[in-house]
Formats: sequence, structure tokens, C-alpha cells
Amino acid sequence: MNIATTPGAGDFDARFGLTKEQLLARRNAKWKQYAPDVIPAFVADMDFGIAPEIQAAIRQSVDAEDYGYPMRDGQKADRAVADAYARRMARLYGWSVDPDLTLAVADLVQATYASVMAFSEPGQGVIVQEPNYPPFRAAVTDCGRYFVPLPMAATETGYTFDLAALEAQMTPEVRILILCNPQNPTGRVFTRDELAALLDFAERHDLTVISDEIHSDLIFDGAQHLPFGALGPRAMARCVTLNSATKSFNIPGLRTAIVSFGTPDLKAAFERRFPARVLGSVNAIGIDATVAAWDHGDAWLTGLIGHLQAMRDHAVARLRAELPAVRFRVPEATYLCWLDCSDLGIEGTAFDFFHDEARVAFSPGENFRPGADKMVRLNFATSRPILDEILDRMVAAVRRNIR
Ligand SMILES: Cc1ncc(COP(=O)(O)O)c(C=O)c1O
Repeated sequence: MNIATTPGAGDFDARFGLTKEQLLARRNAKWKQYAPDVIPAFVADMDFGIAPEIQAAIRQSVDAEDYGYPMRDGQKADRAVADAYARRMARLYGWSVDPDLTLAVADLVQATYASVMAFSEPGQGVIVQEPNYPPFRAAVTDCGRYFVPLPMAATETGYTFDLAALEAQMTPEVRILILCNPQNPTGRVFTRDELAALLDFAERHDLTVISDEIHSDLIFDGAQHLPFGALGPRAMARCVTLNSATKSFNIPGLRTAIVSFGTPDLKAAFERRFPARVLGSVNAIGIDATVAAWDHGDAWLTGLIGHLQAMRDHAVARLRAELPAVRFRVPEATYLCWLDCSDLGIEGTAFDFFHDEARVAFSPGENFRPGADKMVRLNFATSRPILDEILDRMVAAVRRNIR
């Protein structure tokens, strides 16, 4: 299959959509964390079958019972991920990544923690957009650094950040900016101008930029992803980019990710704190799956994006028509939507309300920003029938309990 023969959004659901029974039979966190009558719409995991190319790559090792220390193309297998990442960045963005300046690691959260520890000292500050993916805050505080929020303000045109306001919090002790692009949970895709402004700011304050781009494949019409490092040599001089195939190809359990350093100095500084063997190496099946996804997964991915965009548009239309008091900005990327339920008049937290009254489990807003307990994050990466059931249950719970 190539991109020209990619199925449309409807075809994707028909081919790769899974029923609730199939999903409940799976042994993953999304469908096992809550009671079986609760529909999970929280963790960033999708309810679809896997790209056939990935399955085939995994089967090769499984069928051959080939679980020894892995070599691929005559080299240690980690190198295959680095090469596939470099090929993909060149193909998608014309961005040149040196595979020698990468590390294959198990996951992005690990890489975030390690980068915070490598590029700052205890007691120093780390800027993080807020609301934010919760492990970013944890990485800062668990490592004994302090959290410097960069608020994402909801404006008419979408979520934006204000670097002039951030200046007031800057001291030489602030060392790192964690950038999440596309941003979880707002679904923003930052423009070249916004990224250039961040680069100017980072240069002015001599910050290392840790750019988490895990959602960068999942971009909807009208937006375009630009890797921070692709801004050019000034950006490369201070950035560490994190990515994996795990979100867009739905293989987070295979634990394979890439850290890409902008310069040899950045890699050397990282390795001074974490000598090469400390973080371990990546498992063979994760490597094969990632290489298959990045080299051969575009047809499946294109079908997926069509489906996700249709689900986004459907959720947006129904929420606007049936729950107009719920406020949100239409995500430009990801399968996540950040819903502000403050105007619903819920007494406790929005998470508890929907969990108890609708039997739908969202991600609680307060995990993304302290105090945001009237907000929830919806994951719409599911089939249309399940998404409709989520929305039906939300609407019924609000009508039954609130007006
Ligand atoms: C922005 C972001 N970074 C990292 C992760 C997790 O990545 P990993 O499983 O590789 O730690 C997620 C998962 O949802 C995410 O949304």
C-alpha cells in the first residue's frame, strides 16, 4: 500500500476500528484502569488496530524466535532507529539530523528526566508551558529543580503564550525550557514565528531547549509541524529533540524513543551525566516496530489522520450544539481536546462528575494545571460509535444533573 491508495477516514474505521468487546479484552492501561462500564477517554492511547507493516516487522522476530542481542544491517540495532529517524526528518522537513548525535532510549519521559538532570543543577529553574503533560512538572520537581510556568492563554484565536510576561520570572538560575510541540493538552502546533520567538528568548537567557515532538505526526489540515531544531544552526546549538513512533502508531508498550542532540557538545554534556550504558539499550521488537512505522507506516498514518480529523470535527460539532457551555479551542493536532467545564456548574471536579455520572473517564484537568479541576482532557482517538457513546453519556449526565 502507498499513500495514493490510502483509505479514507471511513475506511480506516472499518479496517482498524475495534469494538468495545475487543478493547476490553486487551491488557492495556486505557481499558483496564477503570471499571468495565466506564469508557476510558484519558491516557494517550488509541483504540485501533496496528499498521500491518508494524505487525509484519514484529512477526519476523516472533516467528523466528529471534530474541538474541539484536543486530540490524550489520550494526547494533539501536542504530537502525537513529537512521530511520534521520531519514524521516530529512523526508518530512528537509531537516538534517546526524544519527551519531542521537540516542535510542526506552521512552520520552525517561529522556525528559535525564535531560533535566543533565542540563541543569538542583535548585535551578525549568520553564514548562502550562497546562502541560503531567510528567513534565514531575520531572522538574522530582529532580529538585523549580517549576517556571509559561501559561498557555485561551484567546479568540487559540492558545498563545506571552514571553514578555515570562521575562519577569527570569533569573540566571533558569536553565531549561521544555517545549511540547504539538502541545499536550491544548493541541496547539506552534508557528515558525512562535518558535523563532522562543529561540530568541532561549538565546537571550542561554537556555537549553528540550523539545518534545511526540505528537508531531498527528497534524490536521491548516497546521504544519516544524521541528524546533529545523529553525537552523542557532536552534541546533541549544536543543535536544525527543520523539518516538509510539503516539502516532499506537505502540507505547514497545518502549522505544529517540533523543536527538543538536550538537556534539550537547551530547557530550548529557553523557557526562549519564554515561552511555546507564540508560540501557532498547529492545529489538521496539526497534523493528519503530523502523517499520517510520519507514513504511505513512499509508496507515494518513488514514489515521483522516479518521482523527473526522472524529475531532464530529466531537466539536456535537459539543457546540449539545453542550455549548463547555468551552474549548479546536485542536490543530493530537487526538486530545482540552475542555473547560467551568460554566456547567459542576460542584466537585469535572473528572469526578463525568466518571460518576456519565461513566466516562477523562484525564483530570488538575493534573495538567493545579486548580484546573473544572477541566478535563478528552481523547477522541476511537471509533465513531464509541465517541458517540462518550458524547451521549456526557450530554445525558449534564441534562440529568445540572439542568
Ligand atoms: C507530550 C508527551 N510526551 C511524552 C509522552 C509519553 O511518552 P513515553 O511513553 O515515551 O514516555 C506523552 C504521552 O502521552 C506525551 O503526550
